[in-house]
Amino acid sequence: MPEMDGGMNATDSDNKDGFLSADEAFMRRCLTVAGNGRGAVSPNPMVGCLIVHDGSIIAEGYHRKYGGPHAEVEAIENARVRGLSHLFPESTLYVSLEPCAHYGKQPPCAVKVAESGFKRVVVACGDPNPAVSGRGIALLREKGVEVVTGVLAAEARFLNRRFMTYIGGQRPYVLLKWAQSADGFIAPAGGCAPCAVTDARLQVENHKLRAQEDAVWVGTHTLLTDDPRLDPRAYYGRPPLRVAMDFRGGLPLSLHFFDGSQPTMLFTTEALAAGEYAALQARVNLVAVPAAEVARPWAFVLSRLAAAGVGSVVVEGGTRLLRQLMAAGCYDEIRVFESACRKETGYAAPDLPDGLCVYRPDLVYPVTAAFPVAQRIRHYVREEVMA
Ligand SMILES: NC(=O)c1ccc[n+]([C@@H]2O[C@H](COP(=O)([O-])OP(=O)(O)OC[C@H]3O[C@@H](n4cnc5c(N)ncnc54)[C@H](OP(=O)(O)O)[C@@H]3O)[C@@H](O)[C@H]2O)c1
Repeated sequence: MPEMDGGMNATDSDNKDGFLSADEAFMRRCLTVAGNGRGAVSPNPMVGCLIVHDGSIIAEGYHRKYGGPHAEVEAIENARVRGLSHLFPESTLYVSLEPCAHYGKQPPCAVKVAESGFKRVVVACGDPNPAVSGRGIALLREKGVEVVTGVLAAEARFLNRRFMTYIGGQRPYVLLKWAQSADGFIAPAGGCAPCAVTDARLQVENHKLRAQEDAVWVGTHTLLTDDPRLDPRAYYGRPPLRVAMDFRGGLPLSLHFFDGSQPTMLFTTEALAAGEYAALQARVNLVAVPAAEVARPWAFVLSRLAAAGVGSVVVEGGTRLLRQLMAAGCYDEIRVFESACRKETGYAAPDLPDGLCVYRPDLVYPVTAAFPVAQRIRHYVREEVMA
C-alpha cells in the first residue's frame, strides 16, 4: 500500500534540493492558516490568505465561518485596521484557493484584491466551482495584477478534498470509520447491547470527527442494538446531522436518534413516512426514497445529503452498512480505531478494500497508568483522492 502523509510533504513544487522557495514557504503557512476553518465553513472550502511585504507577513486571514467574510477580505481588513494598507502595492497576497469572481454572499474577492492595490498575487490552486473556475485569476490579470498559480497546488487540493468532492461529484466526501479489537471484531456476537471496543482516548477522536464532519450516518441494526446518541459530547463543536435509513419499519420512536436534540434525517419509504413514522415529522426530516432506489439507495442518499448542503459524512458502522458502501464505491477515506485487546469471537469488522494509500503512520496511544490497553488509529485515503 503506498504511503503518504496527508499531503503535508507531497508538494508538486518543492525545489529539487529539498528547500522551499519563498512562495512555497509562505503558501505553506497560508494552508496552515486555512485549516483554522475546519469544521466551521463546510460545504465551503477552507481558505487562508497572507499579505507579505518585504519578506515579512504583515497580515493573515482565513475563512472562519460558512457565509462569513472570505480569507482575502479578512487579511485585507486585518492589515487596514493596523494602518498598513499603504503597503499593499509593494506587497504580495498569498491565497490558498483562487479568489472568487462572482457575487454570492460576499462581493467578489478578485475585485477587492485588485482594487486594494496589490500588484502580485500567488494562488495555490484553482476553484472548481463553475461560478469561479478560472474567472477569478482571469479577472485579476485583466486588472493588471501578476498572478502566480500552482504553488503547493496538490497540498491545497488535499486540504480541501471534501470541498473538491462536493463540488466535483455532487455528493459529500465519505469517511468510513469503525472500532475493532486486535483480532478484527467490532462488537460481541449477538450485538444485543452497546459495548465499547476502544477506550476514552479514541472516543474523543471519534467525537472530534462528529464535530468536524457535517453528518454522521449509522446502520439501522446499530440504531436498534446500540441506540447511539451520535453527538460530539466528548469534544466540542456543533452536533452533526444524524442520518439513517429504514425501509422495513419497527424502529422504536424512543430511540435517541428520534429525540429531536440535533438535526436528523431518516431515509425511508413513502408508506412509512406517512404511516408508522408520521409522528416524527416535527423533529426528524423524513425523506421518502423512490421505490426503484430502495434496493441500492446509496447514490440517492448521498445526492440528497449534498442537496441539503452536507459536504462530508462520517459513517460509523456497523459492518453491513460499511461493506455495502465499499461495494458501491461510495467512500473516500477510512479510519480504523483499533484496540490491542483480543476478543476471540464476535461481529467481524469489514476487510479493507484495495486501492488505498496510507494517510500517515498510525497514531499510537500507548499503555499508561490510566489506560491499560494500547490503542491506535489507522488512517487511509483512497488513491483516487490523491490523484
Ligand atoms: N465497533 C464499531 O465501530 C461499531 C460501530 C457500529 C456498530 N457496531 C456494531 O455492529 C453491529 C451492527 O452491525 P450490522 O452489520 O449488523 O448492521 P448495520 O450495518 O448497523 O445495519 C445495517 C443492517 O441493518 C439491517 N436493517 C435494516 N432495516 C432494519 C430494521 N428495520 N430492523 C432491523 N434491521 C434492519 C439491514 O439488514 P438487511 O441487510 O438484512 O436488510 C442492514 O444490512 C452491532 O452489534 C453494533 O454494536 C460496531
